Amino acid sequence: MYNFNLHNKSIFVAGHNGMVGSAICRQLKKFELEILTAEKRELDLTDKNAVSAWMSKKRPKVVILAAARVGGIVANNSYPVEFLLENLKIQNNVIETSFQIGVEKLLFLGSSCIYPKFSKQPIKEDYLLTGELEKSNEWYAIAKIAGLKLCQAFRKQYGCDFISAMPTNLYGPNDNFHPELSHVPAALLRRFHEAKLRGDAEVEVWGTGKPRREFLHVDDLASACVYLLQNYSEMQTINIGTGRDISISEFANLIKKITGYKGKILFDTGKPDGTMVKKLDVTKLNRLGWKSTIELRAGLTSTYCWALDEKII
Ligand SMILES: NC(=O)c1ccc[n+]([C@@H]2O[C@H](COP(=O)([O-])OP(=O)(O)OC[C@H]3O[C@@H](n4cnc5c(N)ncnc54)[C@H](OP(=O)(O)O)[C@@H]3O)[C@@H](O)[C@H]2O)c1
Repeated sequence: MYNFNLHNKSIFVAGHNGMVGSAICRQLKKFELEILTAEKRELDLTDKNAVSAWMSKKRPKVVILAAARVGGIVANNSYPVEFLLENLKIQNNVIETSFQIGVEKLLFLGSSCIYPKFSKQPIKEDYLLTGELEKSNEWYAIAKIAGLKLCQAFRKQYGCDFISAMPTNLYGPNDNFHPELSHVPAALLRRFHEAKLRGDAEVEVWGTGKPRREFLHVDDLASACVYLLQNYSEMQTINIGTGRDISISEFANLIKKITGYKGKILFDTGKPDGTMVKKLDVTKLNRLGWKSTIELRAGLTSTYCWALDEKII
C-alpha cells in the first residue's frame, strides 16, 4: 500500500496567509516536520526567477500550492487578465521549479467550480472537461485546469509524484468577509449579524432558497490535504467534500439561529438561483480512508465566533 512519510520533511506551503494555506499550516503543526513559508512582499510567486531562486535555496521536499488569485463573479468579471495570467504564472513557476529541484511530493489545489456547468450530480472526478464551463469564472477555471494538467504531465513524462485535489465550497477562519466579494457562508454570517445589530425586521437572501449546496470547513479540508499527501499518488484528481448538501433556505435558517437574529428571512425570487444541485461525489476519498468530521452547525458557529473575536464583522 502506498504511504508517503512526512516525518522530518521540509514542506513549502505556498499561500500560507490565505484561508486554505493557514489551515494547512495549523494541521501540519501536529507533525514533526519543517514548514517553509514566504511573505508575498518577499516572494512574488508570479516572478519565475524569484521562485526559482527561493526554492533552490530552501530545497523543500514537499510543496502544497494553496496560493492563487481567487474571487467571486464580480472579481472574475472585472479582472479576467489577472485571473488567467496570475494563476498560470504562479502554478507554472511553482510546479516547474518543484520538478527542477527534485521535490518528492506536490499537491495542487483545483476547485469544484471548474467542473462543467451542467455536470451530472453528484460530480465525479472523471466529469472534468466533459462539458461547457461556467462563463462567469472561465478565466480562473482554464488556469486551474492547466495546473491540474501540468501536474499530470510531469507525472506522465518524468514520473513525478505530483497530485491534485478538488475542494468543494469552503468556509472557516480567515475566510473573506467582504460585503460584496465574499462567498455564501461568510456573506450570510455578516448579513444576519449586521441585521441583528440594527434590529432589521427582514434579511434578504437571493433566489428561492431551493438550490442545494455543499460546504466544507477549511480545517477538514486541511486534514484531507495532509491525508492525501501521505496516502494518494495517482494521475487523476480527487474530490474533497462532505458528500452532504443543504438547501440555501435551510442554510440561511441555520445562520439565523447561530447569529441569534430574530427577524424574518425574505427570499428574493427575482434573483437567479443558479444550478439547483451542486455536490461532489466523494466516494474515492472515502474509500481511501478519509471522511469529514466537522459538522456544519459546529463549524459555522466557530467561524462566527472567530469573525467576532477578530472584529471582522
Ligand atoms: N475558498 C474556497 O471556497 C475554495 C474552494 C475550492 C478551492 N479553493 C482553492 O484553494 C486555494 C486557496 O484559496 P483560499 O480560499 O485560501 O484563497 P485566499 O484566502 O485568497 O489565499 C490565497 C493566498 O495566495 C496568496 N497569493 C496570491 N497571489 C500571490 C502571489 N503572486 N505571490 C505570493 N502569494 C500569492 C495570497 O496572498 P495575499 O493575501 O498576500 O494576496 C493568499 O495568501 C486556491 O487554489 C483555491 O482555488 C478555495
